[in-house]
Amino acid sequence: MRKINIFDTTLRDGEQSIGVNLNVLEKLEIAKQLERLGVDIMEAGFPASSQGDFQAVQTIARSIRNSSITGLARAFKQDIDIAWDALKDSEEPRIHIFLATSPIHMTYKLRKTPDEVLNTAVEAVKYAKQRFPQVQWSAEDASRSDKWFLVKIITEVINAGATVINLPDTVGYTTPKEYGQLFTFIQENVPNIDKVILSTHCHDDLGMATANSLAAIENGACQIEGTINGIGERAGNAALEEIAVALHIRKDFYQAKTGLKLDEIKHTSQLISKLTGMVVPGNKAVVGANAFAHESGIHQDGVLKEASTYEIITPELIGVTSNRLVLGKHSGRHAFKQKALELGFELSAEKLKDAFDSFKALTDRKKEITDDDLFAILADKQTEQIDVKTYELQSVQVQYGTNNIPTATVVVKAPTGQILEEAGTGAGSVEAIYNTLSRIIDNPVELQDYKLQSIGSGRDALADAFVKVNYDGVESGGRGSAQDVLEASARAYLNAVNRVIVHEEFRKEKLQV
Ligand code: KIV
Ligand code: ZN
Repeated sequence: MRKINIFDTTLRDGEQSIGVNLNVLEKLEIAKQLERLGVDIMEAGFPASSQGDFQAVQTIARSIRNSSITGLARAFKQDIDIAWDALKDSEEPRIHIFLATSPIHMTYKLRKTPDEVLNTAVEAVKYAKQRFPQVQWSAEDASRSDKWFLVKIITEVINAGATVINLPDTVGYTTPKEYGQLFTFIQENVPNIDKVILSTHCHDDLGMATANSLAAIENGACQIEGTINGIGERAGNAALEEIAVALHIRKDFYQAKTGLKLDEIKHTSQLISKLTGMVVPGNKAVVGANAFAHESGIHQDGVLKEASTYEIITPELIGVTSNRLVLGKHSGRHAFKQKALELGFELSAEKLKDAFDSFKALTDRKKEITDDDLFAILADKQTEQIDVKTYELQSVQVQYGTNNIPTATVVVKAPTGQILEEAGTGAGSVEAIYNTLSRIIDNPVELQDYKLQSIGSGRDALADAFVKVNYDGVESGGRGSAQDVLEASARAYLNAVNRVIVHEEFRKEKLQV
């Protein structure tokens, strides 16, 4: 079995998805989960692109020890210097330099001749190699590049010190057969190719990212780049969970394995969906809510007789346990703490107690408490864990009638400790709450997006609300869960505002995380 390295770019290419804007603390939370999942390499951001990205990469490089951390850089000395500052404290500093090699990109975007591109790439890799032990070079838009030019430039960047060569299908244009042939061609014609690891990086514009990545594996690639849930630019990146599970289920065919802990997949997918606000479609392969549901009578009959008739992946393989009753009314603090740790939450004693109280309150109202419910409670407490004073919802009450104007009364504890009460109206109940909250909050808040979904199924399922706001000029996402949709909506709104407050404090005070 060949070992395939998993290179996760959820925090860089994934974060380039429209509407996704994670703060440093959220990125760190995701990074810790990716480490638990067992990714070999984690691209934490593009340090030269913004102060926020720099800070995120540096924080992650200093905190994560079991995955190698990398940052993206253009083929400029300045980008490489900034990346070094962000990454120098990591276990094994690694840089990812990219430069486009296709005629379209060289002519119109870079306005450079192929020789100039070759020199720029070689100089950048040489410069990076003076500091970084691991230097990855990517031929952006490789799948639309001239193959002989790729042979020439790859040979030179390997001589300059590159340790990984990546051949991205930047615009999701290639097909499995063609992409596989490109990998074979490069290995047959680049004389020093055995000195490096060959990597694949696919986008899903034509829905072929997973198939293309697997074709690269079949043809010699030893590293796969992608994101969890396939989030990313335009139609997204290759979904790592799909590739890892395909390699596992079809190991007879691929003869390759990854180091991922597959039973951490579902939890990782949920966390990323919650923090990014990018909902996973029900029919999404591997992690979709319906991935293990059997609707047709014939299928149900078959599965009851023998699961393997229609089930090639077991829910347990990816850590799906949400249909089981996990903890109940009589569960104690110890069992709760154990379960929290199992789900990957390390909470302070105070927040663990708060979470336990919320769990107990929920057991009075909800028959079955599932992993998903616990996840929602614990995730809320984890974001509150940072010691910064924020807005806290004390109560919300709404009067609604088909012939009346909806009116909300909201009580909130402000960061100053003051208890504030306001009432307001709106075209609907949620709007009445949001209009009222915006009057309570000190700076202007503009609502940009609002989504609602249920956690699990059944009449007593929790509601999960997600909002995007612009608070005091900063875009932020927030989520809140509760049994009632209106309470969940109010919590999501305050959560989005609080995230900006926490982020600002983090920036000003450089809080220890
Ligand atoms: O899609 C792409 O080409 C990229 C590069 C920066 C590797 O994301
Ligand atoms: Zn990409």
